[in-house]
Amino acid sequence: MATASTLTDLPVRSLSEEDLPAIVELTADRGWPPQVSKWRLMFAVSEPYGVEDPAGGLAGIVVLTRYRPAFAAIGMMVVASRHARRGLGRKLMAHVLELAGGATVGLTATGEGRPLYERMGFRAVDTSVTYTGELAAGAADDPAEARRVTTADVAAIAAADAAAFGADRSAVLAELVTFADDFRVLGDAEDGYAACWGMDGTRVIGPVVASSLVAARGLITSLARGGTGPVRLDISGRHPQLARWAVSGGLAVRNQTTVMVSGADLPGDRARVYCPVSVAIG
Ligand SMILES: CC(C)(COP(=O)(O)OP(=O)(O)OC[C@H]1O[C@@H](n2cnc3c(N)ncnc32)[C@H](O)[C@@H]1OP(=O)(O)O)[C@@H](O)C(=O)NCCC(=O)NCCS
Repeated sequence: MATASTLTDLPVRSLSEEDLPAIVELTADRGWPPQVSKWRLMFAVSEPYGVEDPAGGLAGIVVLTRYRPAFAAIGMMVVASRHARRGLGRKLMAHVLELAGGATVGLTATGEGRPLYERMGFRAVDTSVTYTGELAAGAADDPAEARRVTTADVAAIAAADAAAFGADRSAVLAELVTFADDFRVLGDAEDGYAACWGMDGTRVIGPVVASSLVAARGLITSLARGGTGPVRLDISGRHPQLARWAVSGGLAVRNQTTVMVSGADLPGDRARVYCPVSVAIG
């Protein structure tokens, strides 16, 4: 077994789809579900990194997603419990922070990760609450007149998104056209857009970007009614009205995390960003 000193001397390397079995084994060690579909999205749009365990498998992982011109998201930080508290988490975080250069970096921290991130200069700016369950049909939940997104819509959506998110998510949005089970846009995209994608038997609804609460609710309702089974929404603490609506529609709180930032404040007009694509990638 690696000692405390040798563990942090081990190199950080890029991960590929070939590492997926080892990634799933590592995350299962911390009680996380496989999330294989999300990993496929991240292999397409993000930079996953890891440190190999000399005894086999992976000792730790982290994912960096860069958005031009100056924002990056960090997610999926996991260190095997057998190697915990030996500085590997700090090493992985330092590696991706250096790659991010001077960009503003955002992440969504579990209670376990937060103290380390605070020591590394991150500050809490928001909360993110995960709601899951079956969204009941209600009188106030009129589906939006949203149409399916095609590749031809991506440029207009990316332009609207750059203003709301504050950085260029065009690569992720383009990927969602084929990756998402359903991806819808209202009017000329300034009014809103949202996607829905499957993960471990749940339909994740994200991103949800909209010019108003009514538009956000309409988009979510359209997507929820487009399939069956439980849905998941990760709602920013900036949107308590949407959170209350989700609970009144039958969703339950599953998890709460802290949105943290290093560097400048989160860019864009976050009042329009109701849900991320995924908490791991922003
Ligand atoms: C969060 C997580 C990645 C941290 O990984 P880690 O390798 O244990 O982190 P580090 O060892 O670098 O730092 C953790 C603590 O150990 C301490 N530490 C570091 N090296 C140490 C050493 N040689 N001896 C004793 N303590 C040490 C650090 O000071 C730090 O203390 P703090 O939490 O009070 O700030 C890990 O706990 C984990 O995988 N948790 C489950 C998944 C999760 O919640 N991930 C975070 C998602 S946001």
